Amino acid sequence: MTMALTNAFVLLFSCVLAISFCVWGKPATFLDDFQITWSDSHIRQIDGGKAIQLVLDQNSGCGFASKRKYLFGRVSMKIKLIPGDAAGTVTAFYMNSDTDTVRDELDFEFLGNRSGQPYTVQTNIYAHGKGDREQRVNLWFDPSADFHTYTIMWNHHHIVFYVDDVPIRVYKNNEARNIPFPKFQPMGVYSTLWEADDWATRGGLEKIDWSKAPFLAYYKDFDIEGCPVPGPASCASNTGNWWEGSTYQALNAMEARRYRWVRMNHMIYDYCTDKSRYPVIPPECIAGI
Ligand SMILES: *[C@@H]1O[C@H](CO)[C@@H](O)[C@H](O)[C@H]1NC(C)=O
Repeated sequence: MTMALTNAFVLLFSCVLAISFCVWGKPATFLDDFQITWSDSHIRQIDGGKAIQLVLDQNSGCGFASKRKYLFGRVSMKIKLIPGDAAGTVTAFYMNSDTDTVRDELDFEFLGNRSGQPYTVQTNIYAHGKGDREQRVNLWFDPSADFHTYTIMWNHHHIVFYVDDVPIRVYKNNEARNIPFPKFQPMGVYSTLWEADDWATRGGLEKIDWSKAPFLAYYKDFDIEGCPVPGPASCASNTGNWWEGSTYQALNAMEARRYRWVRMNHMIYDYCTDKSRYPVIPPECIAGI
């Protein structure tokens, strides 16, 4: 009892001292961590800046980016995707080093579909300038009916893309086998909503229906925890960061089960098994998923 009270007091006290480190301070508002990068008029802050609405119409799509870059960490947000007929639209949530030649990039791309047809999530990973590692999963729920959490976890051991608590993509650090792993360049966090009906839905066969515009997506509960760059130089290599902890170094048994379930039941494309594109299986595919 006394102990609990003391702890509560200490927590409260540290909150007063350092609001930004306080668990009660999360989640941040949009403008704490992000700025609009494309078309002000198509991003509207709602709920006192705790949520935003993205608009795509015939005039423009839109986009936003984190104010800072990060080297390792976890970023997540809740997204409610465009409902109904969203064919030809792409909503993206990604991290990018913003470097032309040796780009590192971690992509979530949500490809809209005709009403009643499943949304597809495409993930891709660029490491040291090389991408072309697409995988596609059809979502097992309607992501426009409610908010769901989309997370990118990036530490020295692996990169994991989560949909709620379900890992849909894992890229292990297999540097020991000469497989590139992003670890030298900080990455910013980005999101965009745009039209890509030349490729997005059924390979470009389904065109966008502008009579259904404006297309609206919603974001909230922005949460970035990582080593900001510029920031303390020792942060990224600090094994004491929670995202480097033993529970985050590999999938646990429950996560591994869910990951297998996704791959067996919902994966519709994997570059690893695309023989026409890759007659020789890419090394990271053999090194284990
Ligand atoms: C859209 O629905 C079709 C038909 O169910 C499906 O084959 C496709 O994977 C879905 N997603 C996209 C982005 O085309």
